[in-house]
Amino acid sequence: MNQIKLTLPGEKDYFTQEAFKTLRTNLQFCGQDVRTIMFTSVGENEGKSTVTLNLAKSFSDLGKRVLVIDADMRKSVMAGRNTDATNPKGLSEVLNGLAKLEDVVCQGENTTVFVLFAGQYPPNPVELLSGKYFTELMTLAKEKFDYVIVDTPPLGRVVDAAVIAPNCDGAVLLIGHNKVPYHAAQEVVNQIRKSDCKMLGVVRNNSSVNTHTYYHHHAKKDKTENEMA
Ligand SMILES: Nc1ncnc2c1ncn2[C@@H]1O[C@H](COP(=O)(O)OP(=O)(O)OP(=O)(O)O)[C@@H](O)[C@H]1O
Ligand SMILES: [Mg+2]
Repeated sequence: MNQIKLTLPGEKDYFTQEAFKTLRTNLQFCGQDVRTIMFTSVGENEGKSTVTLNLAKSFSDLGKRVLVIDADMRKSVMAGRNTDATNPKGLSEVLNGLAKLEDVVCQGENTTVFVLFAGQYPPNPVELLSGKYFTELMTLAKEKFDYVIVDTPPLGRVVDAAVIAPNCDGAVLLIGHNKVPYHAAQEVVNQIRKSDCKMLGVVRNNSSVNTHTYYHHHAKKDKTENEMA
């Protein structure tokens, strides 16, 4: 198994980690059948990759085996930014039949976080995600891991996450604070609801914290909050 070093923004910050524990707990309360969960957003840079990796680490702290699938085959920066992997093979190679999951999956050092990177940019990401090989991959992943967290491209920009949704038990919409028009978020939710995938709730990322209460008096400005439906 390929070992990688994970670099997670906020991993040393107490309040950030508490927020991820709350998110983890809320997801566990969504039910035992909710084990494949996709994260999407309206626009870019709202924090999907940061949140999926931190959440995976949080599940791993409980001893859960978690697979993060980087399904942003168009412009993923996860491998270079959050790990020390260089040009790793991943999802696009698996879906093209050029590699098997077990050969390309990487394990975060000293964790039970596993990552399937996006792999090389394919010309046809939507076709690859719509095909039977993605469904087969998700079925296999669900057998082998306790949780599968899928980091998708923003559904307000490209359709990929809508194609991924029918293969997931649940979806979470991530909202970067004060950035997202209500109607745009509603459209994304409607699109997810068209598939069998359950809309689990919303995570608000980068929200400012009121620093006047006792518990929050050391809180940093960047914090993740969440509210599950
Ligand atoms: N809670 C947070 N605390 C600190 N930094 C954060 C947080 N969330 C996101 N960031 C930073 O914001 C930037 C964008 O985050 P990220 O790449 O996770 O967003 P994304 O939604 O995956 O973007 P894309 O749509 O391009 O895939 C990164 O530099 C990341 O380190
Ligand atoms: Mg991302």
